[in-house]
Amino acid sequence: MIEFKLNGKTVRTDDDPMTPLLWVVRDTFKLTGSKFGCGAGLCGACTMHVDGQAQRTCILPVSAVEGRDITTIEGLGTPEDLHPLQAAWNEHSVPQCGYCQSGQIMTAAALLESNPDVTEADVDAALAGNLCRCGCYVRIKKAIMSVGSQGVAFYDASKTSAAGEVEA
Ligand code: FES
Ligand code: FES
Repeated sequence: MIEFKLNGKTVRTDDDPMTPLLWVVRDTFKLTGSKFGCGAGLCGACTMHVDGQAQRTCILPVSAVEGRDITTIEGLGTPEDLHPLQAAWNEHSVPQCGYCQSGQIMTAAALLESNPDVTEADVDAALAGNLCRCGCYVRIKKAIMSVGSQGVAFYDASKTSAAGEVEA
């Protein structure tokens, strides 16, 4: 039996200890916001927080998270009380198909938690491993920068159009 915290609640599973955390969360605990993309740690679609750090969960055995604190996109905010990044995602109309988006947001949330004053270079470096087949990279970066305290000056949401482009 493996025990860990999932979005603040203690959970237990008797799944095979080598089962990737992604499948335990999706199939056993029915939280399907985290997605399966490559299954090889290369795309970021499966990103969750493990003790506050962004981690690829498609290659992380559930046995590795015994006693640890897991946060998924479902635990980041609620429809009534969005995480600032989720609000920024709405503001900037970031998603296209949406498949990669929970991984993008979880990576960005961990980044902002560790470094609220992010620069564009910080965002580029932290998000480099999160792939988006729809090519939403420009809007993803604008949304993150709008939440980071440095970015507010550059990307004031009141000066952006619905398409997320900064107006002159
Ligand atoms: S599904 Fe985990 S990194 Fe691609
Ligand atoms: S929004 Fe479609 S893959 Fe990123």
